[in-house]
Amino acid sequence: MRVVILGSGRGSNAEAVLLAQQAGRLGGARVVAVFSDVADAPILKLGPRFGVPSGFVDPSPFRTKLDGEGEARFIAAVSGAGPDLVVLAGFMRVLKPAFLGAFAGRIINLHPSLLPSFPGLDAIGQALRRGVRITGCTVHHVTAEVDGGPIIDQAAVRIEAGETLESLEAKVHAAEHALLPEVIARLSGARPPG
Ligand code: GAR
Repeated sequence: MRVVILGSGRGSNAEAVLLAQQAGRLGGARVVAVFSDVADAPILKLGPRFGVPSGFVDPSPFRTKLDGEGEARFIAAVSGAGPDLVVLAGFMRVLKPAFLGAFAGRIINLHPSLLPSFPGLDAIGQALRRGVRITGCTVHHVTAEVDGGPIIDQAAVRIEAGETLESLEAKVHAAEHALLPEVIARLSGARPPG
């Protein structure tokens, strides 16, 4: 199962997936490319480090969505890698119908809350401010509804008394780093032969 990862930032989840692959824990999945919409995103350093093609794809002209010419450039770049699965690992743009249609049923997203609670931006901060005692992370299929597609799996994290944003972020990210590679490995096994 050929996997393309898209991300906009740090890339700690892409790194967790690549480390799992290196350790033989990614089942029948193999990361074939990493792309970013942010030219200097740390995620792009993973390419050379793990020997995986990686690159910036110009997302312009829009700021928060992937549409128009930028969307066409992403469709071309991702298609060129021949993916069976497109993984959004911290990709901070809203996908529109042309991209969703080009990879229909093959796009998954990682989100740092127990969806359907706390969709959108700053999900960890939202959970902390709301005072819930349990939050976590979710991997779900991507549909036109932002953070709304069918859930594949989740991991829970307990919010303790005195929890800070920093300590909660560390716990949620650790849960993500375990969950995402596990889900990808599982999906690779579920793929019909041929
Ligand atoms: C992760 O926490 C991921 O769940 C979140 O961005 C972070 C990326 O971290 N994604 C979203 O909020 C998407 N709505 P990383 O770049 O270190 O993997």
